Amino acid sequence: MSDLNIQWYPGHMTKTRRMMEEDVRLVDAVCEILDARIPISSCNPDVDAICGAKPRLIVLNRIDMADPAAVKRWAAYFRERGMAVIATDCKTRRGIADFAPAVRSLLKEKLAAYEAKGMGGRPLKLMIVGIPNVGKSTFINHVAGKKGAKVENRPGVTRGKQWITLESGMLLLDTPGILWPKFDDPKVGLRLAYTGAVKDDVLDVEGLACDLIEMLWRHYPDAVRARYKLDMPTEADGYDLLCALGKRRGFLVSGGEIDTERAARVLLEEYRSGKIGCFTLEMPEDLV
Ligand code: G4P
Repeated sequence: MSDLNIQWYPGHMTKTRRMMEEDVRLVDAVCEILDARIPISSCNPDVDAICGAKPRLIVLNRIDMADPAAVKRWAAYFRERGMAVIATDCKTRRGIADFAPAVRSLLKEKLAAYEAKGMGGRPLKLMIVGIPNVGKSTFINHVAGKKGAKVENRPGVTRGKQWITLESGMLLLDTPGILWPKFDDPKVGLRLAYTGAVKDDVLDVEGLACDLIEMLWRHYPDAVRARYKLDMPTEADGYDLLCALGKRRGFLVSGGEIDTERAARVLLEEYRSGKIGCFTLEMPEDLV
């Protein structure tokens, strides 16, 4: 397995966590954005501690890059745990329209209680959380729509915080809660690196590419074969697969050796830009 050298940001994390603990008291629900390709690795376990019993909406984002069958399985997994789920592609806005109905359904008891108290027009308030680069800003822009406007000191809304009014009339805390991923499990670090959530300059690119191509070869052999015209045994290891890819593409260095570093960079770039296909790198059963 690749040797990951990933940095921690304890100062930032403590500050962000405190701010989120304060903010969560102001909202009716928390909307957690995950990368649909790596729903475990892109979640931060602190969200559970920070959000406590607040109703949660899971947004499985980047479905344009994930395996559609796996997206369905992950949605079922989170629903079974009492969370609302929507699946989105923020590039094309697919799934964005599901946001408001999903929030209303998640908070239907609260809405009924507001009605009963004659406070039917009261807007629902939400906070967005997620790891860097998962798509929080893009998602916020889309759900805010044309109407998205900052408001302050509206009746019933706590003073001193900036809120955005959404097209649906809901209110969003304007600063998304940024949580850093947890790297305790080396597999989590690897998966964040495959997707590009962790920058390559801190990584052993060849080791990473070997792990990735081996994983793809095991789970999605037809797609890898189709893209790289590989004729390799099912049990081939990552290094041999990477060499075969390099040879196919004619990546050679002087002396005729295969330029595995170039092959590694090409593989990672093509995986991240979705050229090889739409793959999910972890399944609910990986949690057991
Ligand atoms: P953040 O606030 O959580 O840090 O993430 P942000 O919205 O800035 O999104 C990070 C990158 O991910 C952006 O690309 C954004 O376009 C892209 N992105 C967000 N959601 C999706 C999605 O559902 N599918 C795909 N394929 N990409 C998504 P960028 O390269 O930084 O900018 P640009 O390409 O949009 O110019």
